Amino acid sequence: MKKIRKAVFPVAGLGTRFLPATKASPKEMLPVVDKPLIQYAVEEALEAGIDQLIFITGRSKRAIADHFDKAYELEAELEKSNKQKMLDIVRSIVPSHVSCIYTRQAEALGLGHAVLCAEPVVGDEPFAVLLADDLIDGNGQACLSQMVDEFNRYQYSVLGVQKVEGADIEKYGVVAVEPLEEHVSRITRIVEKPPLAEAPSDLGVVGRYILTPGIFTEIRNTGRGAGGEIQLTDAIQSLLSKEKVLAHRFSGRRYDCGSKEGYLEATVEYALKHPELKDSFRAYLKSLKL
Ligand code: UTP
Repeated sequence: MKKIRKAVFPVAGLGTRFLPATKASPKEMLPVVDKPLIQYAVEEALEAGIDQLIFITGRSKRAIADHFDKAYELEAELEKSNKQKMLDIVRSIVPSHVSCIYTRQAEALGLGHAVLCAEPVVGDEPFAVLLADDLIDGNGQACLSQMVDEFNRYQYSVLGVQKVEGADIEKYGVVAVEPLEEHVSRITRIVEKPPLAEAPSDLGVVGRYILTPGIFTEIRNTGRGAGGEIQLTDAIQSLLSKEKVLAHRFSGRRYDCGSKEGYLEATVEYALKHPELKDSFRAYLKSLKL
């Protein structure tokens, strides 16, 4: 049985919806309360048993590598001023048995292209892909762990999906499915950002994927699709003619932190759950005369 040990984090996008904040610093470093988006995604991968983190980076993304690296000066300062709690937080971001690998996507040609950049490191193994701007609060079990459980049972690629209301579906990769079990279906077709009238269902793909290495050949043979980008969705559609691909309706709440509104929703809701902030922040929200 194959196991999922590697996770790919495509972080080379331009983040245009968050300009000017993302002009010189990565969207994935935007904090939700006190942690950057990329750290939430990494923690989700670690919870799912991943021990190799592969970041597909681009220009202006150095802060991500710095975040997961050892910070000698900061640690020395914290030690000197006896801030043990902060020191522990800074030191425990990535456990010592986990390796971080950085590879560069020279041009932001699309998510499919970004995933293809991981091929030399991933090799011939199934792997996970996490988009850090989709922040997912799993219901007791992280979304990727739920999907790894499905992969372990079926050994097929698994995509995270959720129900999407109305015309919002036009922003997603959308799947047509045949049900298998309560939360798992077999994908029969997938299409990127269809007009509402042509959407094959109301199930939109979110930024969590488990893919077999067969995807790399399909990406290589995929031309530019929606928005002139090399789309992962198009490569998955080709993969469907060779392998089964499953859709997993995860349990939990997803925040689209690639959009300002989703990011603000996540910030408010995570603050309302934060052990140090929840009471005072709730009182503050109540005090607002909205
Ligand atoms: P998005 O579609 O959100 O694009 O990419 P973006 O460039 O980050 O943001 P906007 O739309 O301009 O505001 C989804 C994920 O795929 C990565 C992004 O970094 C993000 O995590 N990505 C996208 C790449 O790594 N490379 C690409 O060429 C495109």
